[in-house]
Amino acid sequence: MPRCRLGPPTLVLLVFLHGAVVVLLCGWYIQPNPCGPSPSQGKVHVLLLSSWRSGSSFLGQVFSQHPSVFYLMEPAWHVWDKLQAPGARVLRMAVRDLIRSVFQCDMSGVEAYLPEQQNVSSLFMWSHSRGLCSPPACSLTPRGRFSNQSECLRLCDSMGLLRAEEACRTYSHVVLKEVRFFELESLYPLLQDPTMDLRIIHLVRDPRAVMRSREQSAKAFVKDNAVVLEQANVPAVEAQYRVMQEICRSHVRINERATLKPPDFLRGRYKIVRYEDVVRNPLKEIDAMYNFVGLQMTEPLEEWIYKVTHGKGKGSKKDAFQITSRNAADVSQAWRTTLPYDKVRRIQEVCKGAMSLLGYRTVGSDKEQKTVDVDLLVPKERYQFSWLPAKTEHTNHM
Ligand SMILES: *[C@@H]1O[C@H](CO)[C@@H](O)[C@H](O)[C@H]1NC(C)=O
Ligand SMILES: *[C@@H]1O[C@H](CO)[C@@H](O)[C@H](O)[C@H]1NC(C)=O
Repeated sequence: MPRCRLGPPTLVLLVFLHGAVVVLLCGWYIQPNPCGPSPSQGKVHVLLLSSWRSGSSFLGQVFSQHPSVFYLMEPAWHVWDKLQAPGARVLRMAVRDLIRSVFQCDMSGVEAYLPEQQNVSSLFMWSHSRGLCSPPACSLTPRGRFSNQSECLRLCDSMGLLRAEEACRTYSHVVLKEVRFFELESLYPLLQDPTMDLRIIHLVRDPRAVMRSREQSAKAFVKDNAVVLEQANVPAVEAQYRVMQEICRSHVRINERATLKPPDFLRGRYKIVRYEDVVRNPLKEIDAMYNFVGLQMTEPLEEWIYKVTHGKGKGSKKDAFQITSRNAADVSQAWRTTLPYDKVRRIQEVCKGAMSLLGYRTVGSDKEQKTVDVDLLVPKERYQFSWLPAKTEHTNHM
């Protein structure tokens, strides 16, 4: 048998060539994490981390309607719903583990919280997920089209969660919206997991607007409030301020964790977004968010975004999660004419730190509050606060 014999010079050349090829390949595949232990297989996991009534349902739709995204709203709702007795602190690891498995398209974690005979429709707000209304989950909405919730509700239920898993696996991006995180540390293992590529979009909103919106659907929050307050016995009137205080503190905690000496694995993976900036400049802000997670803006999406942020109709108050085509920029100012000043003052007290960190100016009188042409939003550009990680945003996730 002829032997393939290579002299030392040939070997050196081969080793050199091999090296060159590796370098070349690594150069080509910038996304994501080229030559590290990459193997999220290119899948990007996005956590929309927000709080109640902060525009996260709207932002969720912005992702859900994107043809590359499999989106679920609030899978941790099931955890809180089933195990509410203790309180948010005790539940946070269960919440973390649940979202980890859902990010990996494994729905068995959710199943544990559902009735024994479960349908896709057992998932919280399932029809908000365009991916559950499109093939392979359902034939109703071709990919690249916009889904219609009421039709999806009517036509896309199916038994078991297998089709949801199957659908999830066909997308490059899995996006989950959660309002049930009050810190970042519980997410560290996910950020360090080499099989995941987690990006966190932290959506915040002026607490006074949040308060007004929460009051409009106060009943919807009774159970969640108790979990946030660790089942403490607090009179109802007081509870709303205490919950706002917790929410505001969590924004500060999360943001400081991610921006003041963040651990290396958080670099380039955290982006803060103010709802007010989104409604004032939807296309620009949404484009930046898409960019941050490696999604392309498309023309139909641009048109859709314009439509849903500039429409006229009045929203129905019956459904606390309704996404309506009201003029989003006007709605975000509504608290100034409708929320009594004494409440505003109280929220400003409990949320002082968060408001100053996030660039929401306080008002000192009823008159100042109602003078709506005085802008209370500190412009992003003139903000002392570090909008890290602008520089590394989309190329370097290592
Ligand atoms: C959704 O479909 C229903 C008919 O089933 C229709 O009445 C409604 O206008 C549609 N909504 C949108 C936003 O297209
Ligand atoms: C589950 O979905 C099937 C259709 O696939 C339907 O016939 C059945 O009634 C649903 N069950 C529940 C509990 O919703």
